[in-house]
Amino acid sequence: MPKHPVPNLSDLSDLRTPWCVHVAATLRIADHIAAGITDIDELAVAAGCDAGVLHSLLGHLVSKGVFEEPAPGRFALNETAQGLLDPAQRLGLDLDGIGGRFAYAWGTLLTYVRTGQPAYRETFGLPFWEDLDAHPDIAASFDALIGPVGHGAPTPEVQITRGWQSVRTVVDVGGGTGALLAEILRARPEVQGKLVDFPRTVARSGEIFQAAGVADRVTAIGQSFFAPLPAGADLYLLKKVLNNWPDREALAILRLSCSTSRGTPPKK
Ligand SMILES: C[S@@+](CC[C@H](N)C(=O)[O-])C[C@H]1O[C@@H](n2cnc3c(N)ncnc32)[C@H](O)[C@@H]1O
Repeated sequence: MPKHPVPNLSDLSDLRTPWCVHVAATLRIADHIAAGITDIDELAVAAGCDAGVLHSLLGHLVSKGVFEEPAPGRFALNETAQGLLDPAQRLGLDLDGIGGRFAYAWGTLLTYVRTGQPAYRETFGLPFWEDLDAHPDIAASFDALIGPVGHGAPTPEVQITRGWQSVRTVVDVGGGTGALLAEILRARPEVQGKLVDFPRTVARSGEIFQAAGVADRVTAIGQSFFAPLPAGADLYLLKKVLNNWPDREALAILRLSCSTSRGTPPKK
């Protein structure tokens, strides 16, 4: 039997490194270095922060293999630090955007485990989706994170039980800014699509549908998926949606999606 190394509790519970990575990403330190600013005092001015504390933070990251310090107080990018230039990484790590919501939300884990109830509002004052409604900039960065910039272009090769041959109409329920629907319509010229998501989110779909050349075969519908869905479609897609909800709401979404298929009115 191969021997597994014994995990070290200090390493497993280290919060310092993840927070240092988030802060370096939020302050765009890698971008400043890539632009030629390498001296710690100049980096601190460019990032609008305290030089001494920034030096400590970068020193810690160097010790963990992120950034290099080729001379005292001078910093350089290494392969890992170059990852901070990637817009997708930045979206997930930026404490001023959705990355901050995800990071600080971990602080509610104890309440969640104790009660079994989401405790997001404990930190942010509102449940997750309402919080995004109240903060358009955060909502925009969430949409970007789940869209092509963050998660890349999705594959249109969605496996469905009876195959795609007879499918002519698709509704993507909670389809974000439409990246998956755009790829499906691009791959299948005989299919028409409807995108259902919050109005603020579908409002960002036009560019994606235009770029895919499918804008004339798609309708963007800004509405809640807890309201009756467009009826009569051959296929209702739900990708990474049900897992966001407790069972009761997930069942309600499923009921609406199944019962509106081919025009059957939703059961109360
Ligand atoms: C995790 S994202 C998944 C997006 C997309 N299906 C994907 O796989 O990239 C969940 C989506 O559900 C949408 N959403 C959440 N609550 C909603 C509601 N009540 N009505 C409509 N859309 C909602 C969000 O705006 C978001 O786009």
